[in-house]
Amino acid sequence: MKIMIIGGGGREHALGWALAKSEGGRDFYFLPGNGGTISIGHNIKGLKDHDSIIDFAKKERIEFTVVGPEKPLVDGIVDRFDEEGLSIFGPSKEASQLEGSKAFAKEVMQNANVPTAAFEIFDDFNAAKRYIEKKGAPFVIKADGLAGGKGVVVCSNKREGIEALEILMLERKFGESGEIVIIEDCLSGIEVSVLALVSGDKILPFIPSQDHKQIYDKDKGPNTGGMGAYAPVPFISGKDTTRINKEIFTPTINELKKRGIEYKGVLYAGLMLTKEGPEVLEFNVRFGDPETQAILPLLNEDFLELLLRTNEGSLPDKLDWNNQYALAVVLASGGYPGTYEKGFEIVIRENDCILFHAGTKIEDRVLYTTGGRVLSVIGVSDDLEGAKQKAYQCIKRISFKNMFYRKDIGDKGIKPL
Ligand SMILES: Nc1ncnc2c1ncn2[C@@H]1O[C@H](COP(=O)(O)OP(=O)(O)O)[C@@H](O)[C@H]1O
Ligand SMILES: [Mg+2]
Repeated sequence: MKIMIIGGGGREHALGWALAKSEGGRDFYFLPGNGGTISIGHNIKGLKDHDSIIDFAKKERIEFTVVGPEKPLVDGIVDRFDEEGLSIFGPSKEASQLEGSKAFAKEVMQNANVPTAAFEIFDDFNAAKRYIEKKGAPFVIKADGLAGGKGVVVCSNKREGIEALEILMLERKFGESGEIVIIEDCLSGIEVSVLALVSGDKILPFIPSQDHKQIYDKDKGPNTGGMGAYAPVPFISGKDTTRINKEIFTPTINELKKRGIEYKGVLYAGLMLTKEGPEVLEFNVRFGDPETQAILPLLNEDFLELLLRTNEGSLPDKLDWNNQYALAVVLASGGYPGTYEKGFEIVIRENDCILFHAGTKIEDRVLYTTGGRVLSVIGVSDDLEGAKQKAYQCIKRISFKNMFYRKDIGDKGIKPL
C-alpha cells in the first residue's frame, strides 16, 4: 500500500517507522518529512494547501494518508479527502473541534458530565476582566482556538490574569484563536496522557504515557512542544483506567454522537490525576508528540492494519503490548523554546536506541539541525529505570553544537511523589 504521512516532526517519523514495519506498508511519502523519514520514504516539500496535497495524492495514487498535526484536521482535510474518495486517517472537521475550540470541548464535557475543571466562557474583554476581579487566584486562562501550545496561562494572581486577557483578547497575539477565552479553575495533581483509537462505538485505549512540557528539569521554565515522554505510566491503577474509559472517553464520544458527530481516529485526553480522580485538561484529535515516540515501540500489533480497521469500524477488542517500558528524551537546540541557532552538523555514533528525527535534514550525506526539537532518543527496557538508563547512555553517542536536553525524564514514574 502506498502511504502518505502529513507532518515532519518526531511523531511523524515514529508513525512512519511503525507503519513501515507493517506487512501492507510499501511506498512512503512524508509531507514534508525530515532527515530521518528519508530513510523510510520520500520527503515531499512545498505542498501546503489541501488542494495541492489532494492533487499529489491522486497523481501518486496514494492509497492511505495519516495526518500528524492538528492544524490540517481542524481545517477539514479529512472531509476534503472523503469528498474525493481518498482514504485518510483522522477525525472530520466537526469532530476536530474537540481540539480546535476549547470552548466547544468544555461544553461537550459539561453536557456529558465528564470530569473537568469548572469554567466560564467569555467573548468580551471587560466581562472576562470583571470575572477575574471577583474570582480568587489561582485560575487558568485559555485561548479558545489553536495557539501552538502557547495559548494557556496558569495565573497565580489577578494581575497575571488581566495581562493574559490583554494579550489574547486585545493584542490578539494568536489572532482569532483569542476571540473567545475560557477561564477555568486550577486543578492540582499529576498530568498524564491517554490516547485511544475511536471508531463508531468502539474505544480502544493505548497504554498511558506522560509528557514533560517544560524546558528545564523538575518542570521549571517555559512550556515547549514536549521534552520527553515515557510509557506506560506505572502509577496509573486499573481503577483509574476503568474510570478514564467510563467517565471520560465513552460519555464524550456519546455526546458527540448525540450532536450527529461521528468520531473516527485517535483521541488524546490530556488528564490531571486529582485526588478526586482523573479530570480532563484538554482533548487533542491526533497523536501526541513526543508520547507517540514512547508508545509505538511497545505495540505488538500491525499498526497499519489497526489504523485501517479504525476506518472500517472493525477495531479489535484489545491491543497486544510487549511488557516493557519505553522512554523518549528529546534533544533540542540550545535556546529553544526561545530563539536558537540551527544548521549545525549532527554526529551520531553507533548505539542501540531507536532514534526519531524532528528538526533535521540531510545534505550530501551530512545530517544538520533545522529546528528547536532535533531528535528523540528512545530507550526500551524491562523497567522504567532501565529504559531511562539506556536512553541517556545512547545520548552520550550523539552530539551537535548547543545540544540541550532534560536529565530527569521518567523520574516521576520511577520515584512517584
Ligand atoms: N485547569 C487546569 N489546572 C491546572 N493546570 C492546567 C489546567 N489547564 C491547563 N493546565 C496546564 O496548562 C497546560 C496546557 O494546557 P492545555 O489545556 O493542555 O492546552 P494546550 O496544550 O493547548 O496548550 C497543561 O498541560 C497543564 O499543565
Ligand atoms: Mg496540552
